[in-house]
Amino acid sequence: MKISSEKAVQLLKSENIVAVPTETVYGLAARYDSEKAIYDIFKNKKRPLNHPLIVHIAEINWLYELAEDIKPYIIRLADKFWPGPLTLVLKKKMLVNDMITASQDTVAIRMPNHPLLLDVIRKVGVPLVAPSANKFCKTSPTLADHVEKNFCSKIPVLDGGKCKVGIESTIILATENNSLTLLRPGILSKQEIKAVSKIEFLTDNFSNISVPGQKKVHYQPQVSIYAFESNSEILEKSIYNKSERYFVMLLHTKISSDNTCKVISMPNDPIHYSQLMYELWHTVSLEEFDKILIELPPNEDRWQGVRDRILKASII
Ligand code: TXA
Ligand code: MG
Repeated sequence: MKISSEKAVQLLKSENIVAVPTETVYGLAARYDSEKAIYDIFKNKKRPLNHPLIVHIAEINWLYELAEDIKPYIIRLADKFWPGPLTLVLKKKMLVNDMITASQDTVAIRMPNHPLLLDVIRKVGVPLVAPSANKFCKTSPTLADHVEKNFCSKIPVLDGGKCKVGIESTIILATENNSLTLLRPGILSKQEIKAVSKIEFLTDNFSNISVPGQKKVHYQPQVSIYAFESNSEILEKSIYNKSERYFVMLLHTKISSDNTCKVISMPNDPIHYSQLMYELWHTVSLEEFDKILIELPPNEDRWQGVRDRILKASII
């Protein structure tokens, strides 16, 4: 059910959940001080309670209400990248509910870059928690229609159009004086963040190691994803095995579509690739295709967000 901004404000104020647009992906929002509404988010997403939520703010100075020990480099990052696709994990203040942080002593905060949502947050008057508006481990929505499909139209949605970024925000742990840790790569790269913070990154703390049969698949669309490094023989061999129907997303390899495989030539830059990726995954249905085959982008800093989502969503 699509609703107006006024209705969204009214529902959120009175402790209901509403799906909202951001520049990254749609979120499922609740006021940060309502245990009832926060619980509803976990229940609707079927998300385990030990997965903490991001708090969305509308003004930089709201940071001081939620977090302690705000270092100068944090303000440099916020001034440069907010509103935008950067989430900062900071030492939390007492008033932040344990349900938001999964009882950790840190809280994840970002200011989303979507005019409708910023206006809604200001009018609600308190920060909103919002995980992506999908069922646990499934592909995040980048259109209001994806949200309607995910929740069978049972959750009110504020339609803000297509998400401009298309993948979830970059998350960094920013609790240390002299080091940052990348917790989830996104469209903002480590190089861009380092150039502003002037703080070094430690080894990344996200894993793409895939152990066949044991891997927990995240960001998963309806049809299973199989990912291959560029120019891998397996990719070409799979495509020429005509026993299955493939949806193929290529970057450098050139193969044409035929009646068992539909080939898409993806944009060769991470910004345009991200804008398209989840939207394509949402369109591929089991009635039409048996597998999605993806040629991985290069293992480079600026491609980390895209690679991470493909590798985490893939079976092999
Ligand atoms: O772009 C985004 O970040 C979107 C939009 C809606 O803002 N939100 C989003 O939320 O992707 P979600 O819940 O799908 O992913 C949040 C991630 C989770 O991986 C969670 O573990 C991590 O943020 N996170 C939240 N609080 C944390 C904390 N205190 N420490 C470490 N990681 C945290
Ligand atoms: Mg999510």
